[in-house]
Amino acid sequence: MVVALLLGGSALAAEPTPLTQRSSKSVESKTFTSEEEALYLRKNQPASSSGTDILLVALGFAVLTLLAVVWLRYRRHREPTPKDAIGSILLAHAEPIPDESACLKLKIDLHSHLIPGIDDGAETMDEAIDLIRRLKALGYTKLITTPHIASHRYPNTSAIILEGLHELRFELHYRNIDIEIEAASEYYLDEHFMQLLEKRDILTFGGPFVLFEMSYVNHPLGLFDMVTQMKQAGYKPVLAHPERYLYMYRAFEKYEQLKTMGVYFQLNLNSLTGYYSAEVKEAAMALVDRGMIDFVGSDTHKVRHVQTLSGLFETSVYAHLCQRNRLLNNLL
Ligand SMILES: [Fe+2]
Repeated sequence: MVVALLLGGSALAAEPTPLTQRSSKSVESKTFTSEEEALYLRKNQPASSSGTDILLVALGFAVLTLLAVVWLRYRRHREPTPKDAIGSILLAHAEPIPDESACLKLKIDLHSHLIPGIDDGAETMDEAIDLIRRLKALGYTKLITTPHIASHRYPNTSAIILEGLHELRFELHYRNIDIEIEAASEYYLDEHFMQLLEKRDILTFGGPFVLFEMSYVNHPLGLFDMVTQMKQAGYKPVLAHPERYLYMYRAFEKYEQLKTMGVYFQLNLNSLTGYYSAEVKEAAMALVDRGMIDFVGSDTHKVRHVQTLSGLFETSVYAHLCQRNRLLNNLL
């Protein structure tokens, strides 16, 4: 409508008759008398509408301004949608950290081994419940537990994990422990995983996120190709504890290449305490300093992991992590 108004205004400023035609007394060899010339000039005068034009242009600008104000107010006050949440995740590295306290009050953990008896985590239901109680005491309100699926060592399946989750939830309910628990998996990046990917038999968390790990000796030859395939299949790959692959730390550009490809990094919180080794801590700090961390995880297997973790949240190292990185845990 506004465009039409503006166009309308322009159209009213009709093109005047060319000067050459107006100034000549002869058109197509016809000679005009003085009266005819006066009549001709009156008929061909441009519409005297400059005042109307200015009014219409001003009106157009006023309408545009009004529309812009209405749109901005709508954007500011409307309820956020799931699409916004995804957008904020995608823009994670482009936006400043909005609320540091979101990190300081970490509510959601996305890496642990709490389903009893299926990997190197909790061995019994009692042990699993004890670990969950301890994590809850640290302030977690939701746990996304991630048993290993590694065909050579822990040949779990989606069905085994989901059945274990069902039993764990039942036990938590029975013991009146109020905490949300979900399950995904920590996938070992190998041929078996690629077969699962092809079948879309993948346990994800937070929608499209897939947690994967690699050998501590070397990454698979086809690492970057495998990441591409994950992304092409519609998943968002999350590399578990990148700081623990020291061969990557020693070739730092490989971290950067993964980030460029859209891989999310999940730091183990205990890496910041020196729990694994001094060099792992050094690698962790290098990633933290560069703002390359997207998620943090407890990677709880045994009670010692929770005990080591308990002192971390009050430290300056943890505050530094929050200041330098936009963590997405609490959005899950
Ligand atoms: Fe793990």
